[in-house]
Amino acid sequence: MTKKRVLTGYRPTGKLHLGHWFGNLQNMLTLQDDYDAFYFIADWHALTSDWADTTSVRRFSEEMVLDWCAAGLDPDRCTIYRQSDVPEVAELTLYFSMVTPLSWLERVPSYKEQREQVTDKDLSNLGFFMYPLLQAADITIVLADVVPVGEDQLPHLELTREVVRRFNNTYGEYLVEPQALIAKQGARVPGTDGRKMSKSYGNAIFISDTAEEIETKVRGMITDPARKLKTDPGDPDICPLHQIHKLVSPDPDDIAQWDACCRAAECGCVAHKKKMAADLTEYLAEFRARRAGLAARPGYAWEVLEAGAAKARPVTREVVDTCRRLVRIDQDT
Ligand code: ADP
Ligand code: TRP
Repeated sequence: MTKKRVLTGYRPTGKLHLGHWFGNLQNMLTLQDDYDAFYFIADWHALTSDWADTTSVRRFSEEMVLDWCAAGLDPDRCTIYRQSDVPEVAELTLYFSMVTPLSWLERVPSYKEQREQVTDKDLSNLGFFMYPLLQAADITIVLADVVPVGEDQLPHLELTREVVRRFNNTYGEYLVEPQALIAKQGARVPGTDGRKMSKSYGNAIFISDTAEEIETKVRGMITDPARKLKTDPGDPDICPLHQIHKLVSPDPDDIAQWDACCRAAECGCVAHKKKMAADLTEYLAEFRARRAGLAARPGYAWEVLEAGAAKARPVTREVVDTCRRLVRIDQDT
């Protein structure tokens, strides 16, 4: 029996952080054996927002491959490639643009949100507006069944299904409607300021951060904002420090203790921050060592990407060829 296909992608706009690690990467690791897995670097997607300054896209693409492989993605068990090495995606985006009303893109919540929140970049370009359509093509170009993502991506998956249905209704049932897969534990990992951890918000703890960087960032984290003094009881359920500590601590009893003593105002946030920084550093130690090993192999990331593109392209070519026939650009042979 052929395996089902799983696909997901990250934009190479920065280093991987704990939001990626818990929100997504753990799922990607588990899925690589039971599924035919396609994991790609969404470098064209990085251009949609960073078009005016593209200097870091290649460097971040390379770093992301190192992060992924050090985290345990195995290029022999999954297909790791770059979006721009699979130009069939652009052709499928074009066909999708024919069946997609502008209003579908206008109402995607991430579009409005980013236009409001991101003030240091010009997002009035067509490429950024079409972002979700390019994503729909990424997913569909390998006929993916399952897409592991953080919950912020659900509207994009919904749009993908709508576009696929419209394409299929118009040209013939062929493309697959994908299902999103949301991480149980870390659907929305908070950043140091309590908002969603994100490269663009400057609130991220990167998985490649050194022990010193981790300590400084954790020291600056917000906790329960209502807890001004050590003698005020706190609410761990709304405390970003607690949320992350729960994810990285090796000891559930220790977590239960911090929880109880915070509610009873018996311990302070400073001590908790010290412990959480130590646990986090320890949690990431093995990853950091593997990362250093891979970084010492010149050209490793680009070899992985080249081999991945060679594996992906027969698949994407076949899908686009079929779409060309369905759209009647090409004839049935
Ligand atoms: P960023 O928001 O930092 O730019 P990306 O958009 O590149 O991150 O996200 C890549 C993947 O990681 C997506 O599936 C996204 O949903 C997931 N992800 C990113 N940040 C978080 C987070 N803080 N919590 C959970 N999942 C996240
Ligand atoms: N939009 C995703 C993000 O911002 C990245 C992405 C691009 C993606 N294409 C995709 C995710 C296809 C899953 C499937 O994180």
